[in-house]
Amino acid sequence: MSASAAKVPSRPTMPTCAFVPQPYSGPSRQEVLSMRREFLTPALLTYYRDPIMIVQGHMQWLFDETGRRYLDALAGIVTVSVGHCHPKVLEAVQAQNALLQHATTIYLHPQGALFAKRLAGTMPASSGLSVTYFVNSGSEANDLALLMARLKTGAWDVIGLRNGYHGMSATAMGLTALQSWRHSVPTGFGLHHARLPDLYRGPFREDDPHAAAKYADDVADLIRHCTPGKVAAFIAEPIQGVGGTVELPPGYLKAVYEIVRAAGGLCICDEVQTGFGRMGEHFWGFECHGVTPDIVTMAKGIGNGAPLAAVTTRADIAASLAQRLHFNTYGGNPVSMAQGLATLDVILGERIQDRAHEVGGHLKRGLSALQKRHSSVGDVRGRGLMLGVELVEDRVSRKPATAQTAEVVERCREMGVLVGKGGLYGNVLRIKPPMCITREDCDFLCAVLDQALSARS
Ligand SMILES: Cc1ncc(COP(=O)(O)O)c(C=O)c1O
Repeated sequence: MSASAAKVPSRPTMPTCAFVPQPYSGPSRQEVLSMRREFLTPALLTYYRDPIMIVQGHMQWLFDETGRRYLDALAGIVTVSVGHCHPKVLEAVQAQNALLQHATTIYLHPQGALFAKRLAGTMPASSGLSVTYFVNSGSEANDLALLMARLKTGAWDVIGLRNGYHGMSATAMGLTALQSWRHSVPTGFGLHHARLPDLYRGPFREDDPHAAAKYADDVADLIRHCTPGKVAAFIAEPIQGVGGTVELPPGYLKAVYEIVRAAGGLCICDEVQTGFGRMGEHFWGFECHGVTPDIVTMAKGIGNGAPLAAVTTRADIAASLAQRLHFNTYGGNPVSMAQGLATLDVILGERIQDRAHEVGGHLKRGLSALQKRHSSVGDVRGRGLMLGVELVEDRVSRKPATAQTAEVVERCREMGVLVGKGGLYGNVLRIKPPMCITREDCDFLCAVLDQALSARS
């Protein structure tokens, strides 16, 4: 063996998995790629220089058409909560599929009512958050939350946060303030974006004890200058997901909720990525901030991959929508309800939240150890199993290491780990695996990241 070959470190060994994927017999990856280019919208994005095709999943593992196994550290963008094709979820969905796939909500069906009751049970006692409207996507849930807030308050203006992501329907796109996702045509009126309370990159940073209050002041300032002094709602994610795992500083939401309520507005919490135990210490992200919203929107993890979302609110707010007819054809369909109920059963029955806390803590410690070894790791943040690693060119200027981040994502894939990336500059690794991930998987992930960060492009 030559001296240079001897220097190449061996690839970290992937933990074993007894599951054997089925042989794949469909069109080739090249055929799928060319059909996609010709027949699907060019707006779809693919990860990786050489896009991969995923044809099967089992718990924290994904398989490509050749049977190659990957550790899924992004969970289909935080959508798969308890594991791909979790056997208990699969069993419930298959049983429901065999009985009835669709019945409109103009007829009674037990699943929706049962699921709504169970969801109410996950909300803090005496919060009054007990009434749910089921829809099919996070964007729809946010649209509906805004409509309810506007109907209830009689006000129109809504305040979100810069760098926030709330979806891609017309109204949700207007709320989404991440520049890379905004088209140059108006997508919403009366939507305002407050300064992002980012302790790593914002004007008030981790060394400023008054940062949270200073950022909250900007919401008051918006209400003074940009709205008629009244607002319908304030909406924020407890930790920004697509925006690059940006944590809101302690005390910020509490201060903002007071300001917004004093102006007659309602507070909406977008739990599309953060809910259902992923935070570890708490079931809902808002609980980490010691606040109770008026409206909670949820999607993704609620159904372990099903097109299922929901808006949960108080009865008085929900009543605002009943002034006229309102209808959603697929919202609350029995198959999605079965998937949601079974997912919640697994989350509660298999102590998934405790797992997110325990395994997520282990993973975060592993990532923080990498920060000590690699000067390009500027920040490690997040809670439970919603973690982010921000890469910088140097720690003083904090200049985003955008190109290096893209390389790291590629190298991780070569070594069998799928991670995401996000943030305004595309320089934050997003690590949000299915919550069945083990400590051993996390050690593997960190070993892979260690090598990916060490390699020179
Ligand atoms: C925080 C947040 N809200 C809303 C959405 C929109 O959800 P959907 O893509 O289901 O419309 C997303 C999607 O990534 C999200 O991350």
